[in-house]
Amino acid sequence: MKARIFDTTLRDGEQTPGISLTPDEKLLIARKLDELGVNVIEAGSAITSEGERNGIKKITSEGLSAELCSFTRAVQLDIDAALECDVDSIHLVVPTSDLHLEHKLRKSREQVKRMAVESTQYAVDHGLLVEISSEDATRSDMEFMKEIFQAGIDAGAKRICACDTVGILTPERSFDFYSQLMDLNVPLSVHCHNDFGLAVANSLAGLRAGATQAHVTVNGIGERAGNASLEELVVSLYSLYNVQTQINIQMLYEVSKMVARITGMYLQPNKAIVGENAFAHESGIHADGVMKKAETYEPIMPELVGHKRRFVMGKHVGSHIIKQRINDMGFRVDDERFSQIFNRIKSLGDMGKCVTDVDLQAIAEDVMGVMSEKPVELQELTIVSGNKVTPTASVKLKIGDVEKLEAGVGVGPVDAAIVAITKTIEDLANIEFEEYHVDAITGGTDALIDVVIKLKHDGKVVSARSTQPDIINASVEAFLGGINKILTDKKVNESKNV
Ligand code: KIV
Ligand code: ZN
Repeated sequence: MKARIFDTTLRDGEQTPGISLTPDEKLLIARKLDELGVNVIEAGSAITSEGERNGIKKITSEGLSAELCSFTRAVQLDIDAALECDVDSIHLVVPTSDLHLEHKLRKSREQVKRMAVESTQYAVDHGLLVEISSEDATRSDMEFMKEIFQAGIDAGAKRICACDTVGILTPERSFDFYSQLMDLNVPLSVHCHNDFGLAVANSLAGLRAGATQAHVTVNGIGERAGNASLEELVVSLYSLYNVQTQINIQMLYEVSKMVARITGMYLQPNKAIVGENAFAHESGIHADGVMKKAETYEPIMPELVGHKRRFVMGKHVGSHIIKQRINDMGFRVDDERFSQIFNRIKSLGDMGKCVTDVDLQAIAEDVMGVMSEKPVELQELTIVSGNKVTPTASVKLKIGDVEKLEAGVGVGPVDAAIVAITKTIEDLANIEFEEYHVDAITGGTDALIDVVIKLKHDGKVVSARSTQPDIINASVEAFLGGINKILTDKKVNESKNV
């Protein structure tokens, strides 16, 4: 069996409080979803706004492989807007619970059924594939909902979808619920919300009952607690149920990060499959086990989803893992220095802190006396920025014994400063930014800004961080920290034989 993936990141996902995507952002995400291999992209709801229609039109003119779909209500105006955007299909949504009919639509069952039939006919007559969807299906009268579905099918709908709009199913109920729709004999979609954290489990149960398509969003974004998450569902199907999809699983981490960055909805670290901790190991026992054989504490390999394994050193850390990490960083330490490093990590752990690879490198360098001298030091930084000037930066750096002065322009003051610094350091011309992450630690405009960067040079990635009240200074300091690590690398290598 092969399950189909109907991605609604750009419609239900965009309904997440705080998310609003521009047409170009929608296009970027749609391209990635297509590359990922989803079967259907619900690109938005065409009736919503001019900008939404622009976004959908950009997507439909890309020549993507996925079926492109617009959400519509059972009204002609919505279908006309979808037609204007040239989509392949519509997700035609009809509320079916008495709660929604009485309190939201203020319409009778008969009226709603007529709307569903007329809209389906209208859309089919205009060449659209119709997936007719029951909103609040799991609180609807089953007989009435099936009557609506049957009427829609008779009018030409090709697929049906039953929405667990407020996420009240359990896996057992989901199996029973979706099983009851199988006798309609058309492809059935599950659409589950995550109000009780059961969206993926309920979707899996619905698929087991015979549904062939799941509605999902990347990172599980969506109204309230969100929708079933694409990556969790797809990997569960693959690894736990031996059910294939058309998804290129190795792209999942990359797609997740892209959607998080564009939507601004960053993930909790312990998010399954794609969270930063999904393949991170802290305790000495686990880390030791994983180093000997990854399966001891990993149900799937991080590479399967394009993620990476990480070791975080907290108070439970064992000496074995620290030795290994220090080795991997290129240090060779004697027993005395090793125990200094180990004790420092343990005492940081006792103070409630976890040591990342970047911190470990800093501790090791400190113990080895490597970083006492910085190859590059900032002496002056001047920024000119405003609404009517091109952001410009000039920097004076001390590189070894030489002072160098350079200027640069950029799209903003941080960019200008980075351009100016990069110009001064000729032997790092091919340096690449892997990541630039900014967080405001405290609230308000005087917040402490935490900047984390990752730089890539000659195939090696280094990270550096700076926390300051000024975003420009923090960014420059983090960037120089990274550069100093790269330049010190040679010295580190020299220290290998200590
Ligand atoms: O969850 C839901 O009920 C929906 C419909 C509006 C399709 O997203
Ligand atoms: Zn929904």
